[in-house]
Amino acid sequence: MKKMIVIEGLDGSGKATQAKLLAKSLQERGIKVREVSFPDYDSPSSALVKMYLKGEFGAKPGDVNAFAASAFYAVDRFASYKKNWQAAYAEGVIIADRYTTSNAIHQCSKLEPEKWDAYLDWLFDFEYEKLGIPKPDMVIYLRVDPEISQKLMSTRYEGHEEKKDIHEKDMDYLRRCQSAAGYCAQRLGWKVVECSAEGRMRSIESIQDDIRRLVDALL
Ligand SMILES: Nc1ncnc2c1ncn2[C@@H]1O[C@H](COP(=O)(O)OP(=O)(O)OP(=O)(O)O)[C@@H](O)[C@H]1O
Ligand SMILES: [Mg+2]
Repeated sequence: MKKMIVIEGLDGSGKATQAKLLAKSLQERGIKVREVSFPDYDSPSSALVKMYLKGEFGAKPGDVNAFAASAFYAVDRFASYKKNWQAAYAEGVIIADRYTTSNAIHQCSKLEPEKWDAYLDWLFDFEYEKLGIPKPDMVIYLRVDPEISQKLMSTRYEGHEEKKDIHEKDMDYLRRCQSAAGYCAQRLGWKVVECSAEGRMRSIESIQDDIRRLVDALL
């Protein structure tokens, strides 16, 4: 089938949850599915990403510029593609929890909005053309109010705020990411699934229904 679907969203927006459910539902329909997730923390290819998120290059996201940070994440994707899912991509559906599109969101937030177009052109040329990793057929952006995703993450860390990484701790950074994500979604034709309503998350099942409708239209 050779399709790639990316589930994108800010930290704690439900990407892993929704990617897993989508994979299961496609498998039940007899479609060959491979789930991938980035960064690939189990692989040594994510070493620079880990150093960055731990704050080894500086305590603030902006201490590593957009292009350097993009390169850290991009080479991890290249390694994962080459080692793990190049063959699966040739014959099935890849569902990715984050991808190049995460660089778009997170690294745009470090740049002035008038520089976003030039950065995005650079990014997609770098990853899809120069590195040669697959270009997604559909990007589904799970939109959540940052206040709500922050709460979801605090629940996950059970009150241990110190376990959050340098992105997760920084509300201003998350807000800038959200605004960059809105821009990217519009410019790049991402499908937006609104995941919060009336100050709360919608149910996992109702979000999944929206996602499945979008995917049905693609496959
Ligand atoms: N619709 C929802 N309503 C309530 N809780 C949810 C919903 N979706 C996911 N969660 C919970 O929120 C937390 C974050 O979900 P998940 O790990 O899927 O998000 P993520 O986008 O992959 O996060 P990260 O970016 O940090 O990897 C989990 O504890 C999950 O069970
Ligand atoms: Mg996740």
